[in-house]
Amino acid sequence: KTVVLAYSGGLDTSVALKWLQVEKGYEVIACSVDVGQQEDLTEVRARALATGAKIAEVVEVQEEFANEFIARAIRAGALYENRYPLVSSLSRPIISKHLVEVARRYGADAVAHGCTGKGNDQVRFEVAIRTLAPELEVLAPVREWGFAREDTIDYGLANGVQVNANRANPYSIDQNLWGRAIECGEMEDPWNSPPSDIYAYTVPHGSVPDSVVIGFNKGVPVSLDGEEMPLYLLITRLNAIAGSYGIGRIDMVENRRVGIKSREVYEAPAATVLLEAHRQLEDITLERELAHTKIELGLQWATLVYDGLWYSPLRMAFDAFMEEASSVVTGEVRVRFSPNGFVVDGRRSPLSLYDYELATYARADTFNHLDAEGFVKIFGLGLETWSKRQGRVQP
Ligand code: ARG
Ligand code: SIN
Repeated sequence: KTVVLAYSGGLDTSVALKWLQVEKGYEVIACSVDVGQQEDLTEVRARALATGAKIAEVVEVQEEFANEFIARAIRAGALYENRYPLVSSLSRPIISKHLVEVARRYGADAVAHGCTGKGNDQVRFEVAIRTLAPELEVLAPVREWGFAREDTIDYGLANGVQVNANRANPYSIDQNLWGRAIECGEMEDPWNSPPSDIYAYTVPHGSVPDSVVIGFNKGVPVSLDGEEMPLYLLITRLNAIAGSYGIGRIDMVENRRVGIKSREVYEAPAATVLLEAHRQLEDITLERELAHTKIELGLQWATLVYDGLWYSPLRMAFDAFMEEASSVVTGEVRVRFSPNGFVVDGRRSPLSLYDYELATYARADTFNHLDAEGFVKIFGLGLETWSKRQGRVQP
């Protein structure tokens, strides 16, 4: 029997590879998906083969990840609990899709992932895989073996697995194009400041400009300083620029789907800048009622995707709404950087609803001030009546 294992090259999936062979008698096909984690996947592939994989596949999906997953998150303005740009949550459905493809190509019986039983990622992988391929069995070795982190290291060492993590490097890290998530170690006490050496995206990356103009077409970023480029490249460049200013560090305690509050540290420079720039462009292009509803649905979109329900009719229906709403979100936003911060200090669009003659306080003003009198009276009429008849107005 054969299993396709989602293989990152890290401690858990390396030990899982060995464990599936030794304890479960599977032939293992390792599958490493390149979602822009900036790791040498040739090396990861070699490590899979050295650990005993029969076949090791590397699938390059950066462009698909950006265009089909991240673009939708930007359009939706997706921030889970108003803060987390869904770094890991977005990568699980695309990895699941490619695991299923590889499993079908080789006629495998099962698919395996290296998630624990305490997290969101197991939910995302398993719900996605069962939705896409109900015929495949899903194995979760890390959940099944129940090792503490120290035991995993010991099992690996005892079975000849090349172990990179050691007791001095206790972090669990997941990274891709859209950002980086760091957990464990001292950070498990939410009062502790994160160790300064955990960061990789929000550190200097050479000389970078102090402002940039981001061009959007229908809610999706398409250019930097007028230069059109594929989204995955735009994100890569913006990660380096904004990351150099230390922008995009997020330190939060979030509510996992499985009921645990978890302290998470994220680095998401491009995500942080793009979501704010996109929102600022919506501020001038979206009609008020649409803008307000879109904010609420965006929060629901983020929760749905966080919860692992990417492949669902509700997500697709939300995206149909987001696409329609975004048809006017075309234009440019200027972002100015400073150490540890940025501001959007300019925005323009050929479809802008901003009307100078309505907004100005100068002589060019065309707004009829006297119209306001009746509007305000009628707007406040209900409260005026309440106050006269029943009102006990409290401070
Ligand atoms: N808490 C985040 C999420 O649920 C990040 C998970 C990171 N995964 C990891 N293996 N370190 O999306
Ligand atoms: C894990 O537990 O496997 C990682 C964290 C998460 O999925 O939330």
